[in-house]
Amino acid sequence: MNENYKEAFERTRIAGEIAAGALEEVAKIIKPGTKTDEIDKLCYEYINDHGAYSAPLFYRGFPKSCCTSTNHIVCHGIPSDKVLKDGDIVNVDVTAIKDGWHGDTSKTFKIGEVSIKANKLVETTYEAMMKAIEIIKEDVFLGDIGATIQNHVEKQGFSVVQDFCGHGIGKTFHKEPNVLHYGKKGTGEKIKAGMIFTIEPMINIGTYETKTLNDGWTAVTKDKSLSAQFEHTIGVTKEGCEIFTLKKI
Ligand code: MF3
Ligand code: CO
Ligand code: CO
Repeated sequence: MNENYKEAFERTRIAGEIAAGALEEVAKIIKPGTKTDEIDKLCYEYINDHGAYSAPLFYRGFPKSCCTSTNHIVCHGIPSDKVLKDGDIVNVDVTAIKDGWHGDTSKTFKIGEVSIKANKLVETTYEAMMKAIEIIKEDVFLGDIGATIQNHVEKQGFSVVQDFCGHGIGKTFHKEPNVLHYGKKGTGEKIKAGMIFTIEPMINIGTYETKTLNDGWTAVTKDKSLSAQFEHTIGVTKEGCEIFTLKKI
């Protein structure tokens, strides 16, 4: 890469790999009986052991080092003494800051044996994120990303959350552009090589509408239907994009 975004890509790759590594560790311990606080502790320690900080901790008053969003929680679930049980789905969202640069990623885990519907929701959400990532390259419209996700999700009868979106990321956790997970082809801004942002669709079985609980953070589906989410941080290139939130062996 010749351009001046080389440094940003290198730094985000390092932060992203730490965040992805934390999720790999979570995968090893998560099962029926795990408390969401244990996931939080593991993320805190893994990130610190890798010379990084957890971005969520104290971010706008958020009290923990990751988000754990179970079942009908759409996002920003707060880890607690809640025990995961067989059949639950839970999104774990991790953001590491390494040398001032952010890497943001999340995954929905299936706990034990989940229902056929829950399984389809989780798989469809992952596919939607990956389909969007596959079309990304310089000069693609932001609307193309949203449309790709929305088309795939609605074909399966699920709905796309509109109250939260992907975001530019770098030395700041959340910055421009807003990356909507719904929309129309050929609309919005054209993305450029060197841009770094997240794709993080939240997909519901029922209504797309959400509400936030009294703790000021926990967002849930209005109809209490299940919600799933996956997230990667990516960097746009002329030919495609790079996923930064992968753990290299
Ligand atoms: N990681 C979330 C995102 O994808 C943001 C979490 S903010 C927090 O943008 F404060 F809730 F942690
Ligand atoms: Co994000
Ligand atoms: Co995130």
